[in-house]
Amino acid sequence: MKETAKLTIEKSLALFKEATELVPGGVLGARKPTDFINGEYPIFLEKGKGCHLTDVDGNDFIDFLCGYGPIILGYREEEVDEAVYKQIKEKGFCFTLTQKFQNLLAKKLTELVPCSEMSIFLKTGSDATTASIRIARAHTNKIKVMRCGYHGWHDWCVEMKGGIPSKFFEDVFEFQYNNLDQLEDLMATHGDETAAIIMTPFGHPNHQKMQIPAPGFLEGVRKLADQYGAVLVYDEIRTGFRVSMGGAQKFYGVTPDLTVLGKAIANGYPISVVTGKRDIMMAAESKLFISSTFFPNSEAFVAALKTIEILERDKVLENIWEKGELFMKRIQALIDKHDVGAELTGIPPMFYITFQADETGAYKAKRKDFYTQLIRKGFFFTPFHHAYISYRHTDKDLDLTLTAIDESLGFIKEKY
Ligand SMILES: Cc1ncc(COP(=O)(O)O)c(C=O)c1O
Repeated sequence: MKETAKLTIEKSLALFKEATELVPGGVLGARKPTDFINGEYPIFLEKGKGCHLTDVDGNDFIDFLCGYGPIILGYREEEVDEAVYKQIKEKGFCFTLTQKFQNLLAKKLTELVPCSEMSIFLKTGSDATTASIRIARAHTNKIKVMRCGYHGWHDWCVEMKGGIPSKFFEDVFEFQYNNLDQLEDLMATHGDETAAIIMTPFGHPNHQKMQIPAPGFLEGVRKLADQYGAVLVYDEIRTGFRVSMGGAQKFYGVTPDLTVLGKAIANGYPISVVTGKRDIMMAAESKLFISSTFFPNSEAFVAALKTIEILERDKVLENIWEKGELFMKRIQALIDKHDVGAELTGIPPMFYITFQADETGAYKAKRKDFYTQLIRKGFFFTPFHHAYISYRHTDKDLDLTLTAIDESLGFIKEKY
């Protein structure tokens, strides 16, 4: 099978070279070329529409990263953008005081998200996970935290510890998804001092296979939190408004005390939420201070309300599940056909193709070749993050993608 020709990414590379003089590392965090395949992926994008992206060199892609999660409908979704323009043009969005959208969105969340009784609104997922921990600590008057999953870049939870005094994270303990024994042991030692257990309700550890909850796992964590009086926080930054309208908690039928939401709630506009039980949320009334100049800006509230309206009206998540289920089945059939050690995990709205680790490390070369073929063919997946499906992926987009996956796996089969 013929190797697909490398993309021309000269303009991206030139912008990146310039950027390295202006921004440390050129671009921040998970946008760095090393988080993709260096030299193969574009680094700067020009535009997007629906599920399509165009980079600064004019290469077109069918996208499966969805801006790292917020794009649930599609890029430049007109109804959402129009609602935001209207607000900006006719009323304004940045004021000293709050606009009514706060109440509307908080009310909507109580209808949809099982644990939601009261909410506070912030900007990023990291803002919200940090706020949830502060609320849990203030409510319980305890300090320790058990955590499972990626919760953002703040001091208490980020993986790279540079610049952070150890006292900021020494009371935070990590447990593995689906490892209830490990959490039981941790709680046996620290449970009486534990303020919160924060976890992603669906397992999506960075760079690793995705995991659905093992029977009894979510229920077991819920029981441990109750036993020790710890606040159970679900980090639904990725799963909220994607797995179901009520998040993974509704889907799996286990209700936490608090939940953090972000990403898909507003189709790309910056807003995040801590929502949950009234008695716990009330700690935010007088025991602590959470405020930021931009938190109440209304354009993202308007975008969230419009996004939720469309998700409900057009049964968007049902559509994503339906086409995603078929898509995953067909990917699995291709994986079985080629039998090169590829693995498919996840659920239809968010899934991941990884390669089985082996002692020689050959899987890394296969993974690199597979994703290189895909990006060269115009399909934006990455080796180091799972994929998402959006509403705007059409059957034709998905059929084209399956052909590319078939050819890319075929290429690996021939090469190895
Ligand atoms: C599960 C989860 N929690 C928290 C965060 C942090 O959100 P943000 O990047 O908006 O700060 C992320 C970001 O990817 C996430 O996936």
